[in-house]
Amino acid sequence: MSNSIKINNKIDNFNKTITVPGDKSLSIRWVLFSSMAKGESKAFNLLLSEDVLAAIDAIKKLGINVKLKKDYFSIIGKGLGGYKYKKNITINAQNSGTLGRLIMGILVDTPYKIKIIGDKSLSKRDFGRIAEPLCKFGAEIKLTKKSLPLTIKGSKNLSPINYVEKKGSAQCKSSIIFAALKTEGTTKIKAKKSRNHTELLSKYLGLPVKVKKFKNYDLIEVNKAKKIRPLNYKIPSDISSGAFFIVLTALVDNSKLLIRNVNINPSRVGVITILKKMGVNIVINNQKNYKGELIADIFVKSSKKLKAIDCPSKLNSEAIDEFLIIFLVAAKAHGISYFKDISELNQKESPRLKWGSKILNKMGIKTITTNSSIKIFGNPNLKINKKIVIKDYLKDHRIFMTSVIAALAFGGNWNIHDKDSINTSFPNYLKIINDLVK
Ligand code: S3P
Repeated sequence: MSNSIKINNKIDNFNKTITVPGDKSLSIRWVLFSSMAKGESKAFNLLLSEDVLAAIDAIKKLGINVKLKKDYFSIIGKGLGGYKYKKNITINAQNSGTLGRLIMGILVDTPYKIKIIGDKSLSKRDFGRIAEPLCKFGAEIKLTKKSLPLTIKGSKNLSPINYVEKKGSAQCKSSIIFAALKTEGTTKIKAKKSRNHTELLSKYLGLPVKVKKFKNYDLIEVNKAKKIRPLNYKIPSDISSGAFFIVLTALVDNSKLLIRNVNINPSRVGVITILKKMGVNIVINNQKNYKGELIADIFVKSSKKLKAIDCPSKLNSEAIDEFLIIFLVAAKAHGISYFKDISELNQKESPRLKWGSKILNKMGIKTITTNSSIKIFGNPNLKINKKIVIKDYLKDHRIFMTSVIAALAFGGNWNIHDKDSINTSFPNYLKIINDLVK
């Protein structure tokens, strides 16, 4: 079967209600917390994508039992210190930075050496950023050129650390929280703002994680956990998956879309704030609190006039996974949009800032790009009439999905390679697209 998709037609207007799959960050965290809990944890609506399945495989390797029941996943944890595994095991984090980095924090006290590997994309990413603080706790970590494959061996005599997290990386912050939950004494983290699911789940579970919020950073104090209780959770939908459809609706005339039951944690809604500033009609309804997370329905209508934005850097971390798709709105906006201080985008599954600019250029949009910023010269009358091929992008799922939206919204003859990249985060992506046109 061909692993590329050809799109030669723009999408007609639509008026639909959709549900996108469960949140990836929460799904992986559910797997990891439950693997350390004592007793059975259940998750409904767990995201069934390769990143999450890799997390399940990882904890199975550590001797934890995972079962798929009729409509939920069950993990039988044996408590902190309950992992049982043979010497010389290898954990394959595949494409998932979240799994690769978070599990290292959990393995900070592991008695035998464990090897961590990943796919081609993950093996290019920076693991030095997490090896450094974990070594300060007392773990022994050997990297290959700051990246994977790596080996980690824990210590029985861990010491708490004081750490300043400057990148706004939720993966680093979370990994350090996990390590600190296994360490006697108080670990103090001064963390640039980033998604806070680990802190919220810790709070819900009654774990010794205290957060003081300041304007630009959080101070997090973590003490050793005595026990983790089971975590029953109904995973809400992922705003990062919903974002593709929010943008498609904004760009297609006379369209309306309702996306149900989405996690709108304030540390994740940068895409909504930015798009609203650009003139996209978005309304949030039925907001409720679920075990510390905010959930709501998102209603979006096509926009008559899109405005360029000078995007405030303080929104960067809240929108970190959504920039590619936001760039498509900038492509159609009146004026020149400017996104700055986003060098972290080049640390993702592919060098995404470079790719964002490349896709826009292929579409006929002028950009000025540096290592940390992009200016996008919008064209409100953008119509594409040429052939565009998207390939060799390290199978970055968000590049595939963004290219599909660009093809459907702006036209042209697109050939987008590596369709299977969507299995990372959103396996039924093309099915939902197809249902929109029915
Ligand atoms: C994630 C954190 C972010 C994000 C990733 C998921 C998480 O990565 O890009 O998709 O679940 O903690 P960084 O921590 O590298 O910013």
